Amino acid sequence: MTSTLLWALGALSSNLLGALTATTRSNHEQFAASLDSKAVVYYPGSEQFIQASARWSASQTPHYEMIVKVATEEDVQKTILYANENNRPFHTISGGHGTTSLINNVINGVGILMHEMNDITIVDDGSAALLEGGVLNGDLIAYLWSHGKLTMSTGCDCVGYIAPILGGGHGWLQGRYGLAADQLISARIVLANGTAISVCEESNPDLFWAIRGAGHNFGVVTQVKMRIYDREVDQDQWAASGFVFTHDKLEAIFALANEWLESPERPIELTHYGLFALNPDVDPLNPIVMMWIYWQGPAIPSKYTDPLYALSPVAVDESVTELPEVNSHIFANRDGASCAKGLSRALVGLSLRTYSLPALRKVLNIFTALPPEFRTTVMMLEGYAKNRVEEIPGDSSAFPDRDEKVLLSPVLTYPKNASLDATAREIGEKIRNALLEGTDGKLRAYVNYATGVESMEELYGYEPWRLEKLRRLKNEYDPFGKFNFYAPIT
Ligand SMILES: Cc1cc2nc3c(=O)[nH]c(=O)nc-3n(C[C@H](O)[C@H](O)[C@H](O)COP(=O)(O)OP(=O)(O)OC[C@H]3O[C@@H](n4cnc5c(N)ncnc54)[C@H](O)[C@@H]3O)c2cc1C
Ligand SMILES: *[C@@H]1O[C@H](CO)[C@@H](O)[C@H](O)[C@H]1NC(C)=O
Ligand SMILES: *[C@@H]1O[C@H](CO)[C@@H](O)[C@H](O)[C@H]1NC(C)=O
Repeated sequence: MTSTLLWALGALSSNLLGALTATTRSNHEQFAASLDSKAVVYYPGSEQFIQASARWSASQTPHYEMIVKVATEEDVQKTILYANENNRPFHTISGGHGTTSLINNVINGVGILMHEMNDITIVDDGSAALLEGGVLNGDLIAYLWSHGKLTMSTGCDCVGYIAPILGGGHGWLQGRYGLAADQLISARIVLANGTAISVCEESNPDLFWAIRGAGHNFGVVTQVKMRIYDREVDQDQWAASGFVFTHDKLEAIFALANEWLESPERPIELTHYGLFALNPDVDPLNPIVMMWIYWQGPAIPSKYTDPLYALSPVAVDESVTELPEVNSHIFANRDGASCAKGLSRALVGLSLRTYSLPALRKVLNIFTALPPEFRTTVMMLEGYAKNRVEEIPGDSSAFPDRDEKVLLSPVLTYPKNASLDATAREIGEKIRNALLEGTDGKLRAYVNYATGVESMEELYGYEPWRLEKLRRLKNEYDPFGKFNFYAPIT
């Protein structure tokens, strides 16, 4: 509490508080003083404020008047009530990796920084874990692993864990267990009016359905209860082989990937992860094509690697790690390049059933012609196992795309410079449109990789009942659209 007050007083010269009348200033001090002793309020100009607002993508620039590092659910409630009383928008910050352009609509906002709420507790005889709303993926994997457990975790250590659940959540163990959202047993949510509620199959079941796919729309999740699983000795190791090819092998590589995707016996252990990147040391003109094969087990069956060796890769990187190190292969461990902040980025995602080889060639040609500022861009072609994801009924949650088999997106990467943002979106849309050619033409934009321009159908599915249900719930729980900065239901 003392530190909170000190921050409040230290900020009197900042624009926001400087402009307050004596009454509102005293209200503000009362608000700050009412928070938990571990909560802190940050103001523009302070080092902590700058750090708390720094995002993975420098082109996302939400504008906050203050950021409240909350420590408890009550802090979240008080902060929302305070923002509402003062007619200020509020916006949740967890891992800071959200890339939709709509985040830039936060103006004069109150940031709700979740970092202090990062407790993990194993409960129910080791079959579940309670996670607070600010837990990061890498911390979750490491904690569970050290306790002999695991769950469906995602592909980047520095990304938040709760926000991915809200949009579905793809990752390494989804073939075995389903999406991250499928692991959810219950959640605590603070709604737009500051009321905190529990949701699960028995209590507020419609909202429980909605937050597993459209969850950014309804509240701040302060805690979730997730299914967790025992580590099995024979499944502890992950073999990974990364093959680097010149561009001329593109069609042959992805014809193989299509065979794996279409096989009726697609193994639960097999994931592939393709990448295009420009690497002038290998090819001064065209992108290289990388294909990572991951196998949950000590060795990848040679039927998956032999055909890739037969295509004469330029290089192969083979290793065996345990789950907590798997993200390092794609440089997505905490210190890896994929986690670095400071550059502008844009994801422009879509889910597909199969790879169209002519479409991939078009995308590759777009890469060859990338403007100089964009030449550290990569293309992700993510082929996680799908077995369990497909078994779980499609109507059991708001996640609409269980039948799609691969997830594709460029990670457009360029220096921070607002005049390049439009170019980034343009290149991204060109890539996405190229990938839609030869499909049913319906864009299935994964919510967690969406740009902010997609329609309701593109985000939440083409079945009318889904959109009707979501709109009804939005109207009930967030009638004034306070939670509209991510993938809003409209
Ligand atoms: C490098 C990278 C790797 C990725 N890897 C994967 C992957 O393997 N699998 C996958 O499925 N997705 C992946 N994603 C996408 C990821 O799911 C989204 O970017 C996600 O929104 C990031 O969450 P965050 O907490 O880091 O970001 P934030 O920007 O902090 O949060 C994103 C949005 O979620 C909301 N939010 C955050 N926390 C809460 C909360 N506690 N309660 C309610 N709302 C909240 C807010 O509206 C916020 O705007 C990746 C993204 C990046 C950039
Ligand atoms: C930003 O990008 C534009 C377009 O490429 C360029 O003209 C301008 O000089 C850049 N600004 C900075 C500060 O680099
Ligand atoms: C807040 O909204 C919820 C959902 O609409 C409602 O049930 C609850 O009564 C509201 N609380 C207050 C204090 O108005």
